[in-house]
Amino acid sequence: MFDKLLRKKTTAVPSTLKERLNVLKEKPMPTHVAIIMDGNGRWAKQRKLPRIAGHHEGMKTVRKTTLFASEIGIRVLTLYAFSTENWKRPKREIDFLMKLPGEFLSTYLPELVENNVKVEMIGTAELLPAHTKDAIEKAMNATAHNDGMILNFAMNYGSRFEIAEAVKAVAQQVSDNTIELSSITEETISTALMTSHLPDPDLLIRTSGEVRLSNFMLWQLAYAELAFTEVLWPDFNEENMLNIVEDYQNRNRRFGSLEGDEIK
Ligand code: IPE
Ligand code: IPE
Ligand code: MG
Repeated sequence: MFDKLLRKKTTAVPSTLKERLNVLKEKPMPTHVAIIMDGNGRWAKQRKLPRIAGHHEGMKTVRKTTLFASEIGIRVLTLYAFSTENWKRPKREIDFLMKLPGEFLSTYLPELVENNVKVEMIGTAELLPAHTKDAIEKAMNATAHNDGMILNFAMNYGSRFEIAEAVKAVAQQVSDNTIELSSITEETISTALMTSHLPDPDLLIRTSGEVRLSNFMLWQLAYAELAFTEVLWPDFNEENMLNIVEDYQNRNRRFGSLEGDEIK
């Protein structure tokens, strides 16, 4: 308790944005923001650097974005860090990407703890190298009792795989007679997904100008507001995020009805 009171918060808001931030805080924030962090390779190529330099720089954006999201009151931040399709990349690049969670967490874990951030993961951990899995587990354990923003890494995550596994789990319950076939609802499926304990994302952001989902949270994004920006992930900053959240707050989320002149 005392320990929590003594935690000093790292402020993530540049002074130029402070005023806009106060206005932003008056309106409802997206509870869950999901980001497809794309464009690291192109960022590096522009600078004639190897692709891995882009991934390394992207890690700093992860830190910046996490602190900023936590500061503005977002409750869950899901970051797409490695897809089930990314295993198709050259081994050298995969090896580097698998080292990043370890480096990120050994550098920034104390800061995450200070800011009361809780680290979680979706994806299949068993298929990750031991050092990657260990680093994530250590961070999850160290932050398990934090009740601030959830920083949820999608690591070796693929939405179709996730849905297939959920269907298997539900089918098993039917064959065990734990549930009736006729009682399966949308809720049954949601509960069987890796995100069962999280609200669906309100806002999806993809950087780098690509306009696709690349097998990311297909079920959960059913009613998310989508935001695509040309900015490459290593260049993505607080102002870019602020612009997107402001735009989100000015949208009319109807959820199929005719009501809702403002974000609910
Ligand atoms: C996103 O950047 C990071 C991962 C997919 C791991 P990319 O590596 O996809 O960068 P681009 O799309 O080639 O620029
Ligand atoms: C999606 O980006 C996966 C992550 C950001 C981790 P990719 O760069 O792998 O997606 P595609 O290949 O452009 O669809
Ligand atoms: Mg890409």
